[in-house]
Amino acid sequence: MPVEEVYSLLKLHEKMISESIPLIASENVTSFAVRMCLLSDFGHRYAMGEVGDRAYSGCAYIDEVEKKAVELSKKLFKAEYVNVRPISGTVANLAVYGALAECGDRIAATPVECGGHTSHFDTASIRCLKTLKLPFDVSSFTIDVEKAERLIREEKPKIVMLGSSVILFPHPVEELRDVCDEVDSEVVYDASHVLGLIAGGKFQDPVREGARIVTASTHKTFPGPQRAVIFGNPGDELAESIDRAVMPGVVSNHHLHSLAAYAVACMEMLEFGKSYAEQTVANAKILAERLYELGIDVIGEDRGFTESHQVVFKGGRNEQKVLEKNGIFVNLWPTTSMIRIGVQEITRLGMKESEMEYIAELIVRSLEGKDVRSEVKELACAFREVQYSFDRRIAHNPEIFDL
Ligand SMILES: Cc1ncc(COP(=O)(O)O)c(C=O)c1O
Repeated sequence: MPVEEVYSLLKLHEKMISESIPLIASENVTSFAVRMCLLSDFGHRYAMGEVGDRAYSGCAYIDEVEKKAVELSKKLFKAEYVNVRPISGTVANLAVYGALAECGDRIAATPVECGGHTSHFDTASIRCLKTLKLPFDVSSFTIDVEKAERLIREEKPKIVMLGSSVILFPHPVEELRDVCDEVDSEVVYDASHVLGLIAGGKFQDPVREGARIVTASTHKTFPGPQRAVIFGNPGDELAESIDRAVMPGVVSNHHLHSLAAYAVACMEMLEFGKSYAEQTVANAKILAERLYELGIDVIGEDRGFTESHQVVFKGGRNEQKVLEKNGIFVNLWPTTSMIRIGVQEITRLGMKESEMEYIAELIVRSLEGKDVRSEVKELACAFREVQYSFDRRIAHNPEIFDL
């Protein structure tokens, strides 16, 4: 059958992933309960308009799911305002920039070379905003608060964007709140990477610390489908502008199958989020410490290496390729010689401290040129079920693509 051309590739991919150690910090695996929503008829439908007042017929059950997603998100993130419609983190940022700033305004964000996300800068150019780089202290892997205060006072950016893609430690939301108030800057926190840790109470709480708005993709430490959420306590006026900036501003159809999947992921996080986040952070710390003991140049030694799901060490394309050959998937941070790893996916598959110690050894031995492929495969195959979820099905099943 012609579809086999594609299905055989999907099957090979599922097999490859199931026999590997996935350490990409921006990814995760969803539960079977979440995936069922992605297969549903919701994925064929449109729901323009508002809940209870749609321009399209047939939205009765979609409306109920959207209401549920909003209600669950408010509870999970302890926020008065939630928008569950952005279809990706970049789209959420684009909408928030549109609601908060006007063409010609300035925004300040963590430089990409220090772990900031490209969307903070490229999205700004779509809105014709000028960008400023927040001063960053690479040695302690933190925004330099004193220099940042000076920059904010001098340049008066309309938005100070905190949160980033390489985020080992909390960002200085509380510390920069006052100076932002002084010059009328809005603090926006991009929680894409740490959303699951925030939901589980294991990272900073940007809303309580003074961020006006939080944007986040929902598929990194938050184990949901690929989409995004915006939340906070911005007040009615700003809430309305953000809603308009999202839809119809940058989204005309908010991918309803993945909206349902997101609602289910919220339920999982309300039930299991605390233990999942705790284990994730504990795993990252152990992995970092063990790698360091084994001679790897891990960043952040002075501060205990990490308080998030991430571990960063010095390395380049060669190291990435060697690890990939052995079935250990990591990513190289563009424009630097840093390798970023994340433990949120292997934690979701049930790995704990002793597996972290073993993975550190596997990483070191493969970087020394040893062949650890079969040990990687054996470890991966022992941890195939998605944990911290209502159902305990296997994460990857190549056989579903047998026609
Ligand atoms: C901090 C941050 N913001 C935004 C995004 C973009 O999210 P998406 O890929 O859903 O557009 C990412 C993606 O990795 C990210 O790390």
